[in-house]
Amino acid sequence: MADYQTLYDQSINNPDQFWGEASNAIDWYRKPTTILDSSKAPFYRWFSDGEMNTCYNAIDRHIEQGRGDQNAIIYDSPVTNTVKKYTYNELRDEVSKLAGVLAAQGVSKGDRVIVYMPMVPEAVMAMLACARIGAIHSVVFGGFASKELATRVNDAKPKVIMSASCGIEGQRVIPYKPLLDEAIELSEHKPDHCIILQRPQAEATLVAGRDLDWAESTAAATPADCVPVLATDPLYILYTSGTTGIPKGVVRDNGGHAVAMMWSMRNIYNMEPGEVYWAASDVGWVVGHSYIVYAPLLYGCTTIVYEGKPVGTPDPGAFWRVISEHDVRILFTAPTAFRAIKKEDPKGEYLTKYDLKNFRTLFLAGERCDPDTLVWAQDMLKVPVVDHWWQTETGWAIAANCLGIEEKAIKPGSPTTPVPGFNVQCLDETGEEITDGKIGSIVIKLPMPPGCLPTLWNNDERFSSSYLSAHPGYYLTGDAGYKDEENYLFIMSRIDDIINVAGHRLSTGGMEEVLAAHPDVAECAVIGVSDALKGEIPLGMVVLKAGVTRPDAEIIKELIQMVRDKIGPVASFKVATVVKRLPKTRSGKILRGTMKKIADGQNYNMPATIDDPSILDEIEHSLEELGYAARAAASA
Ligand code: COA
Ligand code: AMP
Repeated sequence: MADYQTLYDQSINNPDQFWGEASNAIDWYRKPTTILDSSKAPFYRWFSDGEMNTCYNAIDRHIEQGRGDQNAIIYDSPVTNTVKKYTYNELRDEVSKLAGVLAAQGVSKGDRVIVYMPMVPEAVMAMLACARIGAIHSVVFGGFASKELATRVNDAKPKVIMSASCGIEGQRVIPYKPLLDEAIELSEHKPDHCIILQRPQAEATLVAGRDLDWAESTAAATPADCVPVLATDPLYILYTSGTTGIPKGVVRDNGGHAVAMMWSMRNIYNMEPGEVYWAASDVGWVVGHSYIVYAPLLYGCTTIVYEGKPVGTPDPGAFWRVISEHDVRILFTAPTAFRAIKKEDPKGEYLTKYDLKNFRTLFLAGERCDPDTLVWAQDMLKVPVVDHWWQTETGWAIAANCLGIEEKAIKPGSPTTPVPGFNVQCLDETGEEITDGKIGSIVIKLPMPPGCLPTLWNNDERFSSSYLSAHPGYYLTGDAGYKDEENYLFIMSRIDDIINVAGHRLSTGGMEEVLAAHPDVAECAVIGVSDALKGEIPLGMVVLKAGVTRPDAEIIKELIQMVRDKIGPVASFKVATVVKRLPKTRSGKILRGTMKKIADGQNYNMPATIDDPSILDEIEHSLEELGYAARAAASA
């Protein structure tokens, strides 16, 4: 087996050969003769004349190769006291019937289907059923409110929406159907049908003529077979936060994605087919798409669908129970989950109750892993803890310790070195590469490897302006950081208004749009402030219109409720304050970065372009009253 550097160099110097070989790991109806298609550069495509089907590769192929009786999915739900296993045979039967239901409703190749579901195996089946008939799924995370769902309905224009009557958050039952009905009410585009999974915890009322009962329709369905699609046909659209309130529809293709997923299971995660892989995330996020659903199933592993939390369902030993009960080899989650466990069980007492002898590695992503959490996890688990860096757009890791190639030394705070295929560079404002370890904008030289987004849904223009225009020839990740002398990357912050709350990516711009719509608010700013559990949380500062006499506390309560109603509970927007003025540059730009530094108690440089420095004292005072800004000090 070649070492990391040899493989990395091959992937960059001869991508055709590298990914051509990797493409042999999946089954094609028609093998691609073109590997990297540069004909429309900078819009690169992979395997453009190949034909395949992702669902066939994730299910049927394994059955033909003798894995039919192996578990494909283990559904473990402490919130409903359920453990249910599906073999590959059973998964094929469920998925082909569900695909038959969709086909009977007129859904065919290229049509969109929105999936708005909790963490139940039917969510995975819904995604695979779409892939089976070449339809494009768009999963919307359950923690988003109706308005966010409506925005996605309007953009994706689904023929059908698949949903469930409710989700369960810890002890609470959250009815999903009223949120769905309201979203359809709000949206201009209306789906022809909704397919609703009735859960006993809260049954939903169905709309006659529009809504179908999931169980009844699948029982009556004629199973549908896999349909060949072009490698470049979209498999899914996944909306993610941009800098405005309008989310970006990240497109994932079929062929490049399947090849990348397969390659990553062996080379990054060092998994063997047949083993149990667990990504403790949600199917609504990219981690869920790639590592709950597609990669483990494409590779012939067993995947865990976990409906629970790291703590409270019922205790901080929940993860250890699942690992030991189901013989999990690899766990992938966000650092925030480990901070939650560490907070409740700092000495790891719950860990001693379980046998984790087969557990090999913990992978973390979704936000920067603070060294304290990484070291704590290492000490407790006594296995390698690998921080790896990626984003919705890439669909898989840009930088990681590729354990299947060569295990490198771990440097806490770094996701290690670029994964083969990703030519990662650090540029200054003029586009020059930074070679002395200073912080810069992290970019990826085009072309990116298979699996990364080819464009945004129906919006080549936004794809180009958001990602390709800052530094022609490079993809802009939106992250800032540096490389050390051994080429280890350190991803430190975003260069835009995106914040990361409990591993969830959110737009402060989107929250500002909501606050600005309050009748008493003249102007506002939302910043991400450090939080010991969630990494960051949003904090709102509002200036009220002249003449408003209502108590601040009343207005703040309304603002918090508005963000919850318009964006959703996932925003975790719980702190806001009224200020007299916001600090701005002379040209009127609000100094959010400086306010963030003050809130986090970091030293900051007085911005040379600030209009009135005394406003910063007022802001510091307001933040102190909220319990922030303990140690901030301005330096000239
Ligand atoms: N449906 C409906 N509501 C949801 C939801 C869903 N699928 N997911 C989250 N929410 C709600 C929560 O109930 C909470 O509501 P509340 O404000 O009424 O309490 C709110 O959204 C915020 O959720 P979250 O940020 O997850 O906070 P939490 O306090 O419920 O849990 C952690 C904190 C750390 C335990 C949790 O974030 C976690 O398990 N993270 C794991 C990492 C992860 O999944 N990362 C995703 C990317 S890999
Ligand atoms: P998402 O698209 O929701 O996966 O969020 C992607 C963003 O999360 C990245 O652009 C980073 O800002 C951040 N992120 C994800 N993983 C890491 C990591 N391992 N280290 C630092 N930041 C990360």
